[in-house]
Amino acid sequence: MTDTPRLHLHEKPSRFAALMDAAVDAIIVIDHRGLIQEFNPAAERLFGYSEQDVLLRNVSVLMPEPYAAEHDRYLGRYNTTGEARIIGIGREVQARRQDGSVFPIDLSVGEVKEGDLTFFVGIIRDISDRKEVQELHRRLAHVTRLSTLGEMASGIAHEINQPLTAIATYAQAARRLLERGATADLDSVLDKIARQAERAGAVIRQMRSFVRRQDREQALSHPAELVASVVQFLQMDSGRRNIDIHQELPEDLPTLMVDTVQIQQVLLNLLLNAMDATESAGSREGVRVRASLEDNSSVLFEVLDRGCGVSEEHRGQLFTPFFTTKDAGMGMGLPICRSIIQAHGGQLNFRPNPAGGSIFHFSLPALLD
Ligand SMILES: Nc1ncnc2c1ncn2[C@@H]1O[C@H](COP(=O)(O)OP(=O)(O)OP(=O)(O)O)[C@@H](O)[C@H]1O
Ligand SMILES: [Mg+2]
Repeated sequence: MTDTPRLHLHEKPSRFAALMDAAVDAIIVIDHRGLIQEFNPAAERLFGYSEQDVLLRNVSVLMPEPYAAEHDRYLGRYNTTGEARIIGIGREVQARRQDGSVFPIDLSVGEVKEGDLTFFVGIIRDISDRKEVQELHRRLAHVTRLSTLGEMASGIAHEINQPLTAIATYAQAARRLLERGATADLDSVLDKIARQAERAGAVIRQMRSFVRRQDREQALSHPAELVASVVQFLQMDSGRRNIDIHQELPEDLPTLMVDTVQIQQVLLNLLLNAMDATESAGSREGVRVRASLEDNSSVLFEVLDRGCGVSEEHRGQLFTPFFTTKDAGMGMGLPICRSIIQAHGGQLNFRPNPAGGSIFHFSLPALLD
């Protein structure tokens, strides 16, 4: 074992080991022969092997046929010809746990050169849940009116989809850094990945507590506080995209009796859509949220953007489940928002922004004395 080439990074234990330990995804490093050099704790959890079990074993032990048989041949071809089919691309494949069970994974592979030695870093995410969610949506697709339970399931999937998309993007960035050998910059990217994973975790915790409550929990909330909490939550996202979110909320608006978490979710989705539209239009104008008293009986919330706007032909479909024009979109944001607002006795609608872009607006009944 002493003459085995080891990844030099390993000799700088604190940072590299800490990153490996903290990573949410399984990370496996193999050498040019396919022998496992590093196997992080997330990989141990995912595959059911301890690091000791698999160290210096051929990585094909983690693959079902036909992947296992092909892997050595594939690696050999890459080492001699440099022809890569997976490096820098990432794809869905099957993996095998210690107990023999097979499950779908998303695999991204990066190459690290240390002097004459070549190592491959694989980042692996279990996508069984994603497959289940896809299946769920296929079944939901022909249901015109979603049941409460369906709404919940889609809501969870939708909220988790956002950080997952961000994580996938950051993972690609990390892979590019690895490929360039710019490992010093990896720290901040992995940090962002960890933060997005934490965000996904927070959504699940929130949803769990919501399910436990059974009934909608109504509480007194002030419009300005509702908006401020969501803008605060989005700060990192809006900062990264360089989009300002302006709040125009008078202090003297009446208090509302609402399910705070749900209304926050509505604002969150509308703001994310507004930022997407702003970004896709390459607009420099920020996004605005404003609230005002309407008919002296309800509070009107408006989310305004100067983004790409909605074409006439798409306007009728905006609130239809699974209507989306985005690559990574699910098309569930607006239908969920509308059903939440309706359950609160309000209305959610779209109108074009006269200045260009969109306005999404909803009203909620106010508590007036
Ligand atoms: N502010 C906006 N400006 C322009 N188009 C918008 C805006 N908000 C929504 N849309 C359009 O409506 C579609 C549906 O929005 P919705 O929020 O339901 O789903 P999505 O954003 O595509 O995906 P996701 O499920 O991730 O939210 C979007 O794909 C987009 O085409
Ligand atoms: Mg959306």
